[in-house]
Amino acid sequence: MNNSDIQNLYEWLTQAECITVMTGAGVSAESGISTFRDAQEGLWSKYDPMEMASPEGFSRDPELVWSWYQWRRQQVQQASPNAAHLGIAELQKRLKLYLITQNVDGLHQQAGSTEVIELHGHLFENRCHNSQCDYHESVVDIEEPLKRCNQCQSAYLRPSVVWFGESLDASVIDMAQKVSQQCDLFLSVGTSSEVYPAAGFANVALQAGAKLIEINPNATSLSSKVDLLIAKPAGQVFKHLMSLFDD
Ligand code: OAD
Repeated sequence: MNNSDIQNLYEWLTQAECITVMTGAGVSAESGISTFRDAQEGLWSKYDPMEMASPEGFSRDPELVWSWYQWRRQQVQQASPNAAHLGIAELQKRLKLYLITQNVDGLHQQAGSTEVIELHGHLFENRCHNSQCDYHESVVDIEEPLKRCNQCQSAYLRPSVVWFGESLDASVIDMAQKVSQQCDLFLSVGTSSEVYPAAGFANVALQAGAKLIEINPNATSLSSKVDLLIAKPAGQVFKHLMSLFDD
């Protein structure tokens, strides 16, 4: 790893007045959780997103989609936060830092991050698939079979995550927009920057004059626009970065 890149990262972070961090599936990769678009291991190389992550797919085969999410819940339940989650949580204690994530795994919160702006929902929550019904519940048993909503007695319960073709919560988008606009340093970690509106927030920050840093072992559509690119796994980067705070 290039020491001067990590040194620059350290200096920019400690000199910034307000930092916004955007994370994607890559931040949880070193915790053993699958990403979506990586060529060999990514979930979307093995499963069709329109079958597993769309309202149409759920209506066609609710049992299949439900069991796929139960499997993902198991994968996440066995995982622990890695050095990147822990490092971001530690930075939040020391610096003015907002955290936006596309991840639904809750590992940032487990690591100690607070007020996480979760764009795509929460894996360990269920809600009613009927948009007129506001029932939702925390998941207590990840082996529970597919069931109907107790409140409206008609639709199935589904994971409380955002699927393709569905809108994000407007208040969550507003918050992400606001913290992207007001930061002077935007750090993108482990996201392919392919999915909107999430991918657009780096540009919001850039247009407002923020510096842009990307941590990702692979090039993305953001890479050509950044002020500093650290092409390494996030856990390794944060382990090294946080050791500089101890010096
Ligand atoms: P992707 O799977 O699209 O991208 C993961 C990124 O992480 C890739 O650019 C990898 O190069 C990078 N990566 C892999 N290992 C890494 C590591 N150890 N450290 C740092 N980076 C690493 O995941 P997202 O960008 O999060 O949406 O995908 C966005 C959305 O698409 C997801 O939230 C999900 C998916 O469909 C929904 O489910 C709504």
